[in-house]
Amino acid sequence: MEKKIAVLKGDGIGPEVTDQALKALKAIEQVYGHKFSYTEGLIGAVAIDATGNPFPDATFEVCQSADAILFGAIGDPKYDNDPKATVRPEQGLLKMRKSLGLFANIRPINTYKILANASPLRADLVEGVDFIVFRELIGGIYFGEKGRRDNGNVAFDNCTYSKEEVIRVSTLAFEAARNRRKKLTLVDKANVLETSRLWREVVKDLSAKYSDVEVDCMFVDNAAMKIIQNPRYFDVIVTENMFGDIITDEASVITGSLGMLPSASIGSKTGLYEPIHGSYPEAAGKNIANPNGSILSAAMLLEMSFGLREEAAAIRNAVENCLNAGIVTMDIKKESKYTTSQIGDKVAEFIKAKSKTLQA
Ligand code: IPM
Ligand code: MN
Repeated sequence: MEKKIAVLKGDGIGPEVTDQALKALKAIEQVYGHKFSYTEGLIGAVAIDATGNPFPDATFEVCQSADAILFGAIGDPKYDNDPKATVRPEQGLLKMRKSLGLFANIRPINTYKILANASPLRADLVEGVDFIVFRELIGGIYFGEKGRRDNGNVAFDNCTYSKEEVIRVSTLAFEAARNRRKKLTLVDKANVLETSRLWREVVKDLSAKYSDVEVDCMFVDNAAMKIIQNPRYFDVIVTENMFGDIITDEASVITGSLGMLPSASIGSKTGLYEPIHGSYPEAAGKNIANPNGSILSAAMLLEMSFGLREEAAAIRNAVENCLNAGIVTMDIKKESKYTTSQIGDKVAEFIKAKSKTLQA
């Protein structure tokens, strides 16, 4: 198979973790006889520094002509503490999502046995947790009209959803539920918000087509508790943009390592894949960050954009074997000496060896 991959490494640890995912992809090319080409584009603070624009047109073009996008991270502390900064790295991310029509952000939350004790929750609560969140990504309060009035003394952010926007992401969530444990939870705030009442209406209508899927609706405050108290309750969650942002961060920490989790953002055309951790500026350039979130994002890319299930499984298998062999970065084991690039090398080595065991 021949495919074009756009590579947007971005800020902070983005470049070093993405480099490890590239090693895994190159190992896959070699073992399975595929040919991927990689074209880089600037995004985030590095793009602002180089061009003044956090998502330059040249990067948009690279993304548009690619078959899939591998993305690192965005954000730089030099912009965080300046509320008056008019250009921010995050604008690049939002602009990219919107202009590429990436309406669904998909975050699988699953746990590894070996990390059960790293979770802030008791191991017995965390064991076997396996759910997936579908977050609407280009609507709601993030993209509604915003501004100031009354001489700047009053600020507003409008939250708007159309039926169409709810239908398209909810349909993906229903399809996913159908192929899993057949349970879909809509997370909303329908006791307060009109947009949430629209979400309920749409999801209820859609459920007629998916009679094999059990649907429940849960207020977001309740869902926030339930993710801590009984995370095994969930199979597939669908929710709007802002609630999804918050509960996916919450859900990610119960797995024991933020550094392990991949995500996909998909729309009508090119999908984008990124680790869910941010740019982690304190670790940038130190070769200590956990690259598995990025490596597993490459696996999602192969499976979801290219339909390469076996290849995706080979990457996941390699990551899991490294974990089991104690080949981990220090976020997982404090005394571990493995660096970011060594993990990438080991994962690639394991993919190439195609063997079932690997020595540390
Ligand atoms: C995320 C991030 C972004 C978001 C920020 C950086 C704009 O937190 O991808 O979850 O809020 O969507
Ligand atoms: Mn977030």
